[in-house]
Amino acid sequence: RRGVVTFPVVVHVVYNDAGQNIDGAQIASQIDVLNRDYRAANPDVSKVPDVWRSLVVDNECQFALATTDPLGKPTDGIVRVKTDQTSFDANDGVKAAATGGSDPWPTDQYLNIWVCRLGGGLLGYAQFPGGPPQTDGVVILDTAFGTTGTAAPPYDGGRTATHEIGHWLDLFHIWGDDDGACTNDDRVADTPNQADSNTGKPKFPHVTCDNGPNGDMFVNYMDYVDDDTMFMFTKGQGERINACLDGPRASFVV
Ligand code: ARG
Ligand code: ZN
Ligand code: CA
Repeated sequence: RRGVVTFPVVVHVVYNDAGQNIDGAQIASQIDVLNRDYRAANPDVSKVPDVWRSLVVDNECQFALATTDPLGKPTDGIVRVKTDQTSFDANDGVKAAATGGSDPWPTDQYLNIWVCRLGGGLLGYAQFPGGPPQTDGVVILDTAFGTTGTAAPPYDGGRTATHEIGHWLDLFHIWGDDDGACTNDDRVADTPNQADSNTGKPKFPHVTCDNGPNGDMFVNYMDYVDDDTMFMFTKGQGERINACLDGPRASFVV
């Protein structure tokens, strides 16, 4: 067992209007959520249905705003950039100064999180391990980041970042992205095969793909339910995260 891994985080706040220039307290509230969710220390873990309680994993991952910048100077781990772009999409424009965004800090040393206005109802997106270094990290909608300030319900629980960092650590969507076909899954044995994403606040059990009696594990962070309805990663997901930290993201294990 590798033990606890702490990711140095840089948050790039890329704002067009002043309201998008979220304050330090909102950023700190997001870091707090990550440190609870990735240690199974979130208070709402108590809402996991009994049948899945034994699968809850402590991923032994912690997150801390960087205290040293790439040049070795002290930093608060927050980069603020004013942009002319009124919104960004999933095409990585926010990740480069040349396109109105902010250049990443070395992506093998820092978890880069860009916070900005996103179009098309997008809450966030992530790059999986093994992709191009210059776009590595996660992007989160400003109003879906943290739990205070401009964070807006039902995405004011900080779970968009929990979900996107799950992808960054090599987790797939729990339904396997097969649009209801039940033919693909998330490559995790202890999450039930599930047809499609769930949204809102489903009632337990929600049976699809012959996964009764317990049905879809919609309380998992890798589904699409509301922030106040997702509470857990499983041991099988933890094994994927461990493999990622032994492999493509081993540079974070010091
Ligand atoms: N990539 C997903 C989206 O933009 C993120 C969903 C996160 N879900 C949540 N409850 N915060 O829709
Ligand atoms: Zn996702
Ligand atoms: Ca599964």
